[in-house]
Amino acid sequence: MGEDGKDFKQKTSALIRRSSSAKSLTIGQSALGLLIQRLMKNDQKSRDQIFNSPQENIAPFEFNQKVAAVFDDMVARSIPFYQEIHRLIVDLTHRYYRGRGKVYDLGCSTGTTIELLEKSFGEKAISFVGVDTSAPMLELAKEKCSQVRAVEFLLEDMIRVDFKDAEIVIFNYTLQFLKVDKRAELLKKIYNALPSGGCLILSEKIKSPSKKMESCITDLYYDFKRRNGYSELEISQKREALENVLVPLTPKEQLTMLEEVGFREPEMLFRWYNFASYLALKE
Ligand SMILES: C[S@@+](CC[C@H](N)C(=O)[O-])C[C@H]1O[C@@H](n2cnc3c(N)ncnc32)[C@H](O)[C@@H]1O
Repeated sequence: MGEDGKDFKQKTSALIRRSSSAKSLTIGQSALGLLIQRLMKNDQKSRDQIFNSPQENIAPFEFNQKVAAVFDDMVARSIPFYQEIHRLIVDLTHRYYRGRGKVYDLGCSTGTTIELLEKSFGEKAISFVGVDTSAPMLELAKEKCSQVRAVEFLLEDMIRVDFKDAEIVIFNYTLQFLKVDKRAELLKKIYNALPSGGCLILSEKIKSPSKKMESCITDLYYDFKRRNGYSELEISQKREALENVLVPLTPKEQLTMLEEVGFREPEMLFRWYNFASYLALKE
């Protein structure tokens, strides 16, 4: 990182310290989110360049050490409205968390969601369980969440979690990595574990049932990646690496699955081309 980056990092830390002492932090289009994004851009070491040189054999995508090291930049440039979706998670958690249980973040990666929620709660109590199968991701999450008051991190497959005391369960672009035939089983387990009034907040890459529409939204998504600095080579190699690893469902398939495990009237709250977020409440 250059001198500017170092200077910027110091200024950012000062801002975060000041913000943390405020009763409640305004996140979303907030200075915090924008500053973190700019900070990431200043640091070439944490820029995602995983697929920028030709690879002879493209291995299936893994959340390994190399990916974890650049993950925050990768998601910021690959997931449309990533910050806005976090705003939505913060809003919904404030609305549905009653302080009686825990917020489970499944596939928590580097701990971004947990850290933002903690800051947004200010002095109000909240406790978390962060789950991920990637040890390098959890190392970074522990670092990022070192100031979080009540958090436990589990290096575990989400299918094996018991969801003890779960009040809110978040999947932020994670369920899509679980084998399709395991998804209903996991959602049923979560439904059974949630108390009445608890909820599930789910964001996923999605697909369209129409071939024409699918091709349209995929093209528009690749335009988004190009605008964010990814080359044709990076886009096509990553697409190949994710084939059969990330398996999207249509919104209808997803909503039906949520209904079939017991959630009444789950809703899509947000959609941008081939990405969507849903809320499912347990009555
Ligand atoms: C796209 S990332 C999630 C991003 C993160 N939730 C966020 O908002 O920044 C997917 C994460 O899910 C994890 N993951 C994939 N399959 C998993 C499983 N079966 N159980 C737990 N974690 C899993 C990966 O290791 C990775 O960290």
